[in-house]
Amino acid sequence: MERTFLMVKPDGVQRGLIGEIVKRFEQKGFQLVGAKLIQVTAELAERHYEEHKGKDFYDRLVDFITSGPVFAMVWEGDQVVALSRAMIGKTSALDAAPGTIRSDYAIHTNYNLIHGSDSPESAQREIANFFAEHELLNYSKVISQWI
Ligand code: TYD
Ligand code: MG
Repeated sequence: MERTFLMVKPDGVQRGLIGEIVKRFEQKGFQLVGAKLIQVTAELAERHYEEHKGKDFYDRLVDFITSGPVFAMVWEGDQVVALSRAMIGKTSALDAAPGTIRSDYAIHTNYNLIHGSDSPESAQREIANFFAEHELLNYSKVISQWI
């Protein structure tokens, strides 16, 4: 079963959008297997965003993601990486399609509310950065057969 790493960024936490965002993935039919509200350290931020090191937005991005609590989550389901990216919407506020989280709730690219892994390989790396194995639960729901 595929897993992805999703994170409500500090803007989403400050704006009270944790519930709304979690609700969308729950209602889609994905299963939450781990979650926690945490303060990201500079070290963790740099590890998480290592692919962007050196880009013009990198310093601002690290400042932003460490500026307040984030809600880090691991979700499970068929094609959850690609499907959750589709639900999140494109990075740029202007390109995010209506109905996506970023289109529905964000105006600016640098305050785009949520992170989602861009491939199963990134998901593995990001999950390991944020969660210990014992924080991720294996359990089944009766409803799974209907999804
Ligand atoms: P990226 O991984 O390209 O986007 P996504 O979050 O959709 O996977 O970039 C990481 C974050 O960096 C992005 O969510 C917002 C920020 N960012 C900018 O502020 N300006 C930019 O031009 C880009 C590409 C990203
Ligand atoms: Mg990315």
